[in-house]
Amino acid sequence: MLSTPSSPLSVLVIHGPNLNLLGQREPGIYGSVTLEEINSQLEAEAMKLEAKISAVQSNHEGVLVDTIHAARGQHQGIIINAGAYTHTSVAVRDALAAVKIPTVEVHLSNIYQREAFRHHSYIAPVAIGQISGFGAESYRLGLLALVHHLRH
Ligand code: DQA
Repeated sequence: MLSTPSSPLSVLVIHGPNLNLLGQREPGIYGSVTLEEINSQLEAEAMKLEAKISAVQSNHEGVLVDTIHAARGQHQGIIINAGAYTHTSVAVRDALAAVKIPTVEVHLSNIYQREAFRHHSYIAPVAIGQISGFGAESYRLGLLALVHHLRH
């Protein structure tokens, strides 16, 4: 479905493995905000931008692939924090490349300040851009960047 003046931009927000534990999981790295709070903040921000979001979280690689496939014709953009699959999943990258939906990659932590195995992202080459290191704010900045990209 293409966005028209009467249908707001629809953005799919995908949260990968272990992000359901946000708020309890390594708060020194990921902060104390929960996934529900991030999704509520994004919904409020999307309303201001005359857009809407649908958020999905899964710990399973194949579910992430299926979710990306199902976005075709439903969403104009994707924000993805693929968690650890960022650094391992050719399948998630190939799904994003296949559907060709403009995608912004986000991370709560600055992956380049952390262990070497987090410095490589399979997703970055198929994303329009990446935002990393601003905690929950990375998602909001990602939404702003994506909506700006889609409208200009
Ligand atoms: C993360 C960074 C990844 O390296 C890690 O595996 C995560 C979260 C982040 O948001 O900072 O699960 O994507």
